[in-house]
Amino acid sequence: MLGVLVEGNQPWAKNAPVLALGLVEHKFEHNGEQNKAAVHDLGAASACLTFEATARGLSVHQMIGIEPDKARRVFGLFGSLEPFTGLATGYVGESSLVPEKYAQRGSRERQRKALDEIIIHSGF
Ligand SMILES: Cc1cc2nc3c(=O)[nH]c(=O)nc-3n(C[C@H](O)[C@H](O)[C@H](O)COP(=O)(O)O)c2cc1C
Repeated sequence: MLGVLVEGNQPWAKNAPVLALGLVEHKFEHNGEQNKAAVHDLGAASACLTFEATARGLSVHQMIGIEPDKARRVFGLFGSLEPFTGLATGYVGESSLVPEKYAQRGSRERQRKALDEIIIHSGF
């Protein structure tokens, strides 16, 4: 799984005890019809996994930085099943375990937008 991540994600992800691939199934199993919400479903599932893991003291780092074609080859995926994301799960570790630039990224103060900036009340 580590080799399926883009190079930039590997230096820190290699320390995670669990690496998972997020898959999108574009067609319903029962009738073969297109599931228009397929990508949304993976996002919702990943969010739920993240909340539950966080509640248990774990940390989840979601990644869009994967190589989908390589993932298809490595895991023998075909058809309407699309490799979409990577998810690294584990306990937050010592910053000395990763190269400096990743350590800085992890320890800097988080800035969140004010609700007013992301909630639209009337028109765009
Ligand atoms: C769908 C998605 C894809 C992401 N892809 C990457 C990625 O490929 N590499 C990465 O380092 N962070 C990626 N991130 C960002 C991290 O998962 C995380 O959200 C970010 O580091 C902010 O962390 P914080 O919530 O602790 O501030 C992605 C986030 C999301 C939601």
